[in-house]
Amino acid sequence: MNAHILINLLLTVILVVSFEVQALSPNYYDHSCPQADNIVTNAVKKAMSNDKTVAAALLRMHFHDCFIRGCDGSVLLDSKGKNKAEKDGPPNISLHAFYVIDNAKKALEEQCPGVVSCADILSLAAKDAVALSGGPTWEVPKGRKDGRISKAIETRQLPAPTFNISQLRQNFGQRGLSMQDLVVLSGGHTLGFAHCSSFQNRIHNFNTQKQVDPTLNPSFAASLKGVCPAHNRVKNAGSTMDDTTTSFDNIYYRMLMQGKSLFSSDEALLAVPSTKKLVAKYASSNEDFERAFVKSMIKMSSIIGNGNEVRLNCRKVR
Ligand code: HEM
Ligand SMILES: *[C@@H]1O[C@H](CO)[C@@H](O)[C@H](O)[C@H]1NC(C)=O
Ligand SMILES: *[C@@H]1O[C@H](CO)[C@@H](O)[C@H](O)[C@H]1NC(C)=O
Repeated sequence: MNAHILINLLLTVILVVSFEVQALSPNYYDHSCPQADNIVTNAVKKAMSNDKTVAAALLRMHFHDCFIRGCDGSVLLDSKGKNKAEKDGPPNISLHAFYVIDNAKKALEEQCPGVVSCADILSLAAKDAVALSGGPTWEVPKGRKDGRISKAIETRQLPAPTFNISQLRQNFGQRGLSMQDLVVLSGGHTLGFAHCSSFQNRIHNFNTQKQVDPTLNPSFAASLKGVCPAHNRVKNAGSTMDDTTTSFDNIYYRMLMQGKSLFSSDEALLAVPSTKKLVAKYASSNEDFERAFVKSMIKMSSIIGNGNEVRLNCRKVR
């Protein structure tokens, strides 16, 4: 064998090895833990039979995880000593249902100890949350590793509900996500609930001229002001994200087109023709929305972190 061939061979081996470290695959646990997907599904099913709002929590949790340090389970770590973790950072207000991930992990550790990462469990649980809410289902690529770092201060990197379209574009773009992904993934706002603080900018002191965001439907704005008065004293007051809050559908887009969205960041999707056209498309076809959602979720959930371990307890590093 001459040197040229040898070098080529070596390079190929290196490429294949480094590729295997990075690449996610739907078959990742086929030999090491073939029941992995089912075990997670059962944990989500069980939780949802008691509380449908778990679905929204799991979907948001996965988004939050992937947007900070990649999808590495950093959102699941508890604060420890002086370190305040992501889950104890400012926009944690809607983060709950961590117990569902704990239950899935416990069941997995009994079947295949030390094999399935917490980041993969969360990605699978988000898929189950969507499917069990009447949305589409898909095969989740797996093989993520768990990270060891979680910092409350990094939740600043999440997009804010007050963001305009250029801020959203930049925030998603930094993670390799397109404007199409932005419109499609915002459709996650078909599930769940928001607290008054997340949309108060639109209904009180909107700007120097207007008290209320003029893009809001007036009667919709009035009802939001009803539940969220300026000096709100009700602790968990807020609104459901759309009229069918536990069902995964395209009603979010329909309401958005009628001036019935909660966040400035939702309304921002109507600010430029390209994204506005997509909103109209998904409002008119749930099928198109579902197909696009699966594609964009797989893209978002493939944002690679630099985790290097499989935790035994999703709240603690090994
Ligand atoms: C486009 C940028 C986004 C912004 C600015 C944003 C902002 C927010 C805010 C402020 C809340 C309400 C928090 C509260 O008041 O309790 C929320 C809730 C939620 N978000 Fe987003 N989000 C964005 C993208 C996403 C994405 C990509 C997904 C998932 C695909 C998602 C899924 C959810 C869900 C399901 C809820 C409801 C959570 C619950 O009821 O527990 N969001 N989002
Ligand atoms: C959310 O963050 C606040 C402020 O950092 C913290 O005091 C609170 O305990 C956190 N709540 C949850 C549910 O983690
Ligand atoms: C979006 O907000 C940023 C920061 O406030 C501002 O600089 C920019 O001009 C705004 N862009 C649009 C399109 O409104």
